[in-house]
Amino acid sequence: MEKIVVKGVKELKGEVNISCAKNSILPIIAATILCPEPIVIEDTPKLEDVDVICKLLSELNCDVNISNVNNRLTIDTKNIVEMDANTELMRKMRASFLIMGPMLARFGYCKLSLPGGCNIGSRPIDLHLKGFKLLGADIIMGHGFVEVKAKKMIGSRIYLDFPSVGATENIMMASVFAEGTTIIENAAEEPEIWDLAQFLNKMGAKIKGAGFGKITIEGIKSLKGISYRPICDRIEAGTFMIAAAITNSKLKINGVNEEHLRPVIEKLKECGVKFSEYINNSVIVDGRATKKPLDIKTLPYPGFPTDMQAQMMSLLSIVEGVSVITETVFENRFMHVAELQRMGANIKIDGRTAIIEGAQKLTGCEVKATDLRAGAALILGGLVAEGETEISDIYHIDRGYVEIEEKFRRLGAEIYRINV
Ligand code: UD1
Repeated sequence: MEKIVVKGVKELKGEVNISCAKNSILPIIAATILCPEPIVIEDTPKLEDVDVICKLLSELNCDVNISNVNNRLTIDTKNIVEMDANTELMRKMRASFLIMGPMLARFGYCKLSLPGGCNIGSRPIDLHLKGFKLLGADIIMGHGFVEVKAKKMIGSRIYLDFPSVGATENIMMASVFAEGTTIIENAAEEPEIWDLAQFLNKMGAKIKGAGFGKITIEGIKSLKGISYRPICDRIEAGTFMIAAAITNSKLKINGVNEEHLRPVIEKLKECGVKFSEYINNSVIVDGRATKKPLDIKTLPYPGFPTDMQAQMMSLLSIVEGVSVITETVFENRFMHVAELQRMGANIKIDGRTAIIEGAQKLTGCEVKATDLRAGAALILGGLVAEGETEISDIYHIDRGYVEIEEKFRRLGAEIYRINV
């Protein structure tokens, strides 16, 4: 079993390059199913989740190749088959379900294992299915699987009860070839939705309004092969901003879209962190000033991202005063609290709210990465904890952070991976 060990209490220095966004590349790879011509994706982040979705496409008989030059991923779905997708890979990653929309659009049929629940909540798929149904698909729910069939996909007006990221993406992909116009209302507005629409439009789709609450898709006949580079990972960038803050350091972060991170940046400024001008998507984050406690509520974009909640909690654990974090997106996303408590953090949970009384210090100990962002939060805690923090279950971290130890080591952190 692999573990990450962090030795704490050290100032960081230097600059870090942010990789392309995990949450962009996963739907983009799924969307390649819509086009029978080869597609090239530049700067593909080396992540476990990317491996999983690539394996899934390979099992469906697609040609998937990654070259060392520019991490260029080439996908050719010309020979894709509509067989049932592998249960194991479907279970491994919830985002695998994103192949359902494109499969339905291309074949009028798809059968997939139901994505399991996960640590952070039950994560249903009702909104995805509601969209497919309104586009003309029949839905058959079986024991552990879901099957969708459509003789013809017809554009429709679809209102999402909640602006789900995955449902917006899946429905957008499912409706690319639907006859007439599809309108998704109360759509998720995350930057990764805009990125997926850019990718699809470059291939020839006609999508307007992505990145806002109302998306309009005019059905077209076919798409063409293209080359594309996804946007930078706003959550990785936000994680390094918090690294600067928690270690009282000044770091340069390259590959930041200020707009995408507005809610995180504003909260960090309120906390006392300073930001330079943005020049060519780079910013200097100065976390050396005294920090103030915060009141944060996670919300769909452009609200504060749930994917930054755990990392922010690590920071607030050492900021003097009482901070409050309310999680409204997922019902069970406080698994990291028990781990931070082991390190000495003073946190109480009341329903969906965590009350954090900033402690003077954290202390290194053995902790477990309970999910991807929880893992990042523990690394951040480890950077300032006295002694050594040993993090297990780090496969969660590898799902979504490219070479995280290397990136932190280059900034001067003492962090390494051990095999036990
Ligand atoms: C995506 C992100 C994930 C992020 C999340 C919220 C990817 C690959 N993952 O996940 O990192 O934490 O957005 O920003 O992009 N819901 C329903 N019915 C549905 C679908 C969702 O009730 O059919 C609920 C979920 O239970 C959850 C909420 O909507 O409470 C948000 O989920 P959703 O936006 O769909 O997240 P994902 O797309 O799974």
